Amino acid sequence: MCGIVGYVGREAAAPILLEGLSRLEYRGYDSAGVAVCTADGLSVHKAKGRLHVLSGMLDGGRAVQGTAGVGHTRWATHGAPSDANSHPQVSRSGKIAVVHNGIIENYAELKDFLQKQGVPFASETDTEVVAQLVEYFYENGKADILDAVGRCLHRIEGAYALGILCADTPDQIVAVRKDSPLILGIGDGCNFLASDVTAILRHTRRVSYMDDGDLAVLTREGIQRYNRLMQPVEMEITRVDWEIDAAEKGGYEHFMFKEIMEQPDALRRAVFPRIRDGEVFLEDFSLPDAYIRSLRKLYVVACGSSYHVGMVGKYCLERMLRLPVEVALASEFRYMDPIVDEHTLVVVISQSGETLDTMAALREAKRLGAKILSIVNVVGSSIARESDEALYTWAGPEIAVATTKAYTTQLAVLDLLGLYLSKTLGSLDEAERRRILDEMLLLPEKLERVLAGKEDIQYFASRYFNLNSVFFIGRNIDYALGLEGSLKLKEISYIHSEAYASGELKHGTISLIEDGTLVVALGTYGKLFEKAMSNILEVKTRGGDVLALTAESRRAEMSRTANGVISIPDAHPMLMPLLGAAPLQLFAYYVALMRGCDIDKPRNLAKSVTVE
Ligand code: F6R
Repeated sequence: MCGIVGYVGREAAAPILLEGLSRLEYRGYDSAGVAVCTADGLSVHKAKGRLHVLSGMLDGGRAVQGTAGVGHTRWATHGAPSDANSHPQVSRSGKIAVVHNGIIENYAELKDFLQKQGVPFASETDTEVVAQLVEYFYENGKADILDAVGRCLHRIEGAYALGILCADTPDQIVAVRKDSPLILGIGDGCNFLASDVTAILRHTRRVSYMDDGDLAVLTREGIQRYNRLMQPVEMEITRVDWEIDAAEKGGYEHFMFKEIMEQPDALRRAVFPRIRDGEVFLEDFSLPDAYIRSLRKLYVVACGSSYHVGMVGKYCLERMLRLPVEVALASEFRYMDPIVDEHTLVVVISQSGETLDTMAALREAKRLGAKILSIVNVVGSSIARESDEALYTWAGPEIAVATTKAYTTQLAVLDLLGLYLSKTLGSLDEAERRRILDEMLLLPEKLERVLAGKEDIQYFASRYFNLNSVFFIGRNIDYALGLEGSLKLKEISYIHSEAYASGELKHGTISLIEDGTLVVALGTYGKLFEKAMSNILEVKTRGGDVLALTAESRRAEMSRTANGVISIPDAHPMLMPLLGAAPLQLFAYYVALMRGCDIDKPRNLAKSVTVE
């Protein structure tokens, strides 16, 4: 949620900030703004709407002078999208400007305090409190800016990544991070801060991940980092090894489509290096065998699509490990007094590695004594760094708000984890384990075949894109896949959609089926194919239109009953969701395209959800 960027160097800051923000817009796109230090004080420009509105106002940044500045793209929390509520938020004298990602939880109390001191407020945001409070300490305590920021940090509670400018120190930016992502970029005669690497990759590959509670002062000559006690700390510098093209559309109309098509390669990266001579190798995996043997259960904790991966995982992991696997929404887990102890392995799944609910659940599980293994896409992200073990999905940057390649690679890594643990536990028949591993190596090629059939899916989308409501049904692993298919469709096309376990239809849901209701019936799980067929008949008898997803070997049979059939290559039952996800993603994509929706940036959403 919200993207922030900062630059201090020798070049004009505003064009660099705007270009950086264009790569962060996926994080929020209600409004945007920049503040730049000039000879006459801070020059602040903000506009409601997409970044291009601001960019147009500023002639791509050329209209603003100054070589140090901060920028922001917003996903509104406190106060509706408006020019006044956009960031940067400035203090009453105009000397302090702040960009913020996160939420200041005690802002109301602080605002009250400041108002009683006569400080007038110009916005409804929690962020303005930071700007006013820094100025309050700066003026009242006659402190320098760093002291003033330090004192402000003692008073604010919540999550924040902050970029702070002060007109009196025009060649520096103060950066602060707590529970919201922030990285520092080390350039040549210039330095950067950003919510994520993509914003600065054009300028530098050398980055330093800030720790929670860290503060940094950036000048063009260098960066000084401090810990929460304001003691100077060494900067550990990491080199980013992926290319900027990975975060560009590369000729595709939408990031989502590009990312769907990238899935075979993403799977190759996630799977191939981890299977050698019929065994699973997990890099840097250090959980001892004795610990694995002491496990009594696994808990998968995640949000949204990552949670849906956990739902598929429950079916697969329980079969592989013969241990109970619970799956919880991270936002629920932290408040449900979960039964977790040192014999529980908590598997945390997150594309961004920054989702606040997931991070909070991770900390709660740690507090309860569990070990944390995370499956994460963004390298160096907070969740990866706070886990006992982090397995990367290596899907590359995912920019479209709706996840696709992260989902499939998360599934693959979770399967690999299950296979790895099952070897230590001796819980899975060896021949079966080998068969799954061999089949995993075939997945990328099979997925290429699925994607090559995209025109068929486009055709079905053209038949159904005008509907108001769609149901997804399936049993077992297909039900778990249906949850994701339904989320994809609703989040980007705004069509109302629900996923149900097929067996539950008769317990209530079937009353919703009437003439012409579209039901996407998932029947990829061979063992329950006959049951899937019976449910399809029940739906058809009541006038429903059935679009079925099944294995190639079942296509003919399915075609006799369903109104339309999409088929995917046969594979081990546990791997079918890895192939079945792609047609559902494409269906959602084409439906949204035909409805004229903003596919990469659906309304009200943001990619990295760093608020509770
Ligand atoms: C849906 C989607 C979201 C995310 C969820 C968790 O397409 O992308 O539901 O899956 O916000 O995000 P991460 O995986 O970054 O923790």
